[in-house]
Amino acid sequence: MNVVKLQSTYDISVEVAKIITEQINNKPDSVLGFATGSSPVETYKRIIEKYEKGEVSLKNITTFNLDEYCGLPRDNVNSYFYFMKDNLFGKTDVDFSKVNFLSGTSGEIEEECKAYRKAIEEAGGIDIQILGIGTNGHIGFNEPSDSFTDGPFKVKLTQSTIDSNKKYFEDGNMPTHALTMGIGDIMRAKKIVLIATGEAKAKAIFGTVKGEVTPMCPASVLQNHPDVTIFIDEEAGKLL
Ligand code: F6R
Repeated sequence: MNVVKLQSTYDISVEVAKIITEQINNKPDSVLGFATGSSPVETYKRIIEKYEKGEVSLKNITTFNLDEYCGLPRDNVNSYFYFMKDNLFGKTDVDFSKVNFLSGTSGEIEEECKAYRKAIEEAGGIDIQILGIGTNGHIGFNEPSDSFTDGPFKVKLTQSTIDSNKKYFEDGNMPTHALTMGIGDIMRAKKIVLIATGEAKAKAIFGTVKGEVTPMCPASVLQNHPDVTIFIDEEAGKLL
């Protein structure tokens, strides 16, 4: 596990955007796993800037996002599909026919989850998975629990996650469940890049880097992955 501490969110975004765009330029049909939330937003801005300067084209990549809220259709402003369209995909030449998302409105959850796992496999696996981390150590929406998950599944969100994310829901009606890639899906990615900034993430980052590997801090499992880089700022790294 490689931990890189940088001065600012901007500095982190420059480095992570470099990793992603180099990956795409070396392999234009790369398979990329994306995260939503505040952590990768600046990185997505740097990728858009590079796209606008003609330094990268995203038109041949295939994408898989980590998770989606149950009950929110793609055109809901709070859906993660909408987030990705707004913060990256819609501002570049991403081919939407190659964008993959778990469907939060699927009536056949088991089928939906199985199909997502199969689609990742058929695409050849994820080349780089971008991750944020919850204050409780969650990655994707794999909340602390007594065992590690494998494939995609439906999860009941913890109060900690609801407390962190409810600010985005203007009417206060945040979904209580989500569909998420499992820990196995994340660990099968060839390379993983995790971004964490701010003091609120310090405990989770300590557990991830220095704690025992336990499903009570889901991100700690990354210690067992051969190619993980964790980008943090001073605040997120203050307990290390
Ligand atoms: C988002 C996701 C979550 C977030 C995490 C941190 O797709 O899977 O694990 O990465 O909740 O969120 P932020 O970045 O908003 O602090």
